[in-house]
Order: sequence, then structure tokens, then C-alpha cells
Amino acid sequence: MQKMKLNLDKVQQGLGAKRFGREILFFQKIASTNDFGRKVTGFGAAEGTIVLAETQTAGRGRSGNRWFSPLGGLWFSIILRPKLDASDATGLTFMGGLAVAKVLEQMYGVKVKTKWPNDVLLNGKKVCGILTESSLADDRVNFVVVGIGLNANFIPEQVLPKELTEMATSLQVELGHKVGLEELLRKLLERMETVYDTYLAKGSAHVVGEWKKFAAFLGREIQVVSENEEVKGLALDVDSQGALILKLQDGAIRRIFGDFTVKTDKT
Ligand code: BTN
Repeated sequence: MQKMKLNLDKVQQGLGAKRFGREILFFQKIASTNDFGRKVTGFGAAEGTIVLAETQTAGRGRSGNRWFSPLGGLWFSIILRPKLDASDATGLTFMGGLAVAKVLEQMYGVKVKTKWPNDVLLNGKKVCGILTESSLADDRVNFVVVGIGLNANFIPEQVLPKELTEMATSLQVELGHKVGLEELLRKLLERMETVYDTYLAKGSAHVVGEWKKFAAFLGREIQVVSENEEVKGLALDVDSQGALILKLQDGAIRRIFGDFTVKTDKT
């Protein structure tokens, strides 16, 4: 049997957040915390409830990718029930990235970059990915599940498939030591709640604006790809709804939204 690594009391003792992390649904092993999070919204799970797992057997990334979730990482999803129109909720995806970037800089003194739409990078490699999934009803938000996958206490070369190790890093690799997962999670919950409250009070433009301060790809020639398309251009901006604004090679301006990934960002 695997050794339990996460101590929930240590997460919740002294937790400064009022809603985020007050209720933790914890699993040593689960298919996907996002899938479970979506399920429990149907049973009335309160805003701020988190689903936390030590390992996931079917963790999901963006664009239908698999997300490898070995022991030692921080894999969790947070349930939100914002009273927003669907069009005002698109920027929520930046909440997680902004909170992670700020917490990593503050706790470990590292230089963090973000990559559109929601990767967090250390030394040009991905340390954290975020999968935001929304349920809408009549153009209003029913619920949002924000899934955070943070590579913390493991060495990618030892546990991830070879093809991922060129792009992926972990806190252990970048810092040269393991980190306290409980303290890290507590700080993330506190920061996410603050960012979320700012989002509700001031709107997405403010949060996206803060997020852009970490975005290294702006002002660079980049390539974005989706399943069916590849687009190259100069990354001009990310607008208040979270769309990437590209100046294409023929001078046209294109607003990129949805299931695209930035491919050639060498941050
Ligand atoms: C990505 O970069 O493609 C997003 C990765 C998101 C992974 C997290 S781990 C916790 C939560 N549960 C999942 O199945 N996915 C997210």
C-alpha cells in the first residue's frame, strides 16, 4: 500500500481562506479530481469545496490530453459557483495561474512565467497546468471546476513518460529540494480566494491584467495550434475576456480563443 503523504489537518489549521478549502474531499487515488468535482456539484457541494488526490489514474489536461499525476504532486480541483453571465466568466481560467504564479514567487523566491492560456513555467518548462471546466445554463454560469496540477515533489525524468520530460519540470528539480505540500496548498487556497473575490468585485480585466505581468510571450512571434489549425503571429495582447490577440503575418488581427495551445514560446 502506498504511504499517505498529505496531512489535511496541516492544510486546514490556520487556513486564512473563508470558503476555499473549508471542505476537502480527499482521495489517495482517484481517476480525476475534475471529474469528481463536476459530479459532486450535482449533490450540492458548496463553493470553495476542493477535491484533492495524492494520485490520479486518469488525470486530464487541456485538448483531451492525459495528465500524469504521480505521488508527490499537488492534484486538486476547486468548485466555484459564481453568479455571472457566461461571457463574464471566461477570464476565470486566469485566476488559477495568477494565484500559482504569485504563491511560487512569494514562497520560494523563483521567477515565474505564464503561458497562454494557463500554464505556469519555471525556467521555460511547465511546472503547473490548469484545466477550467464550466457548466452553463441559459447563458449563466451554473458552476466552474478549476483543476490545478502542480508538479511538486518528484523528478519528471524518473516518473513521467520520456516524451514529456523535455517540457516538464517540478518544484523539486527547480529548487533542489522537496517542498511542504500542505503549506503550499494552504497558501494556494488563500491566494485563489483573494483573486476570485477580486474577480467578482472588479471583473476579469483586473485579474487578466495582473496575470499579464507574468506573461513572457507577449510581444513575441509565436505559433498557436489547435486540432485543425496552426496560426503564426505576433502576440499583441490578452484581452479582458482572456482571448489571445495575434497580429498575423499579413497584418490582420486575429482573436484566438478556445482549444489552442502556444507552441513556440521560448520563455
Ligand atoms: C493542462 O495543462 O493541460 C491542464 C492540466 C490540469 C491537470 C489537473 S490535475 C487536477 C485536475 N484533475 C484533472 O483531471 N486535471 C486537473
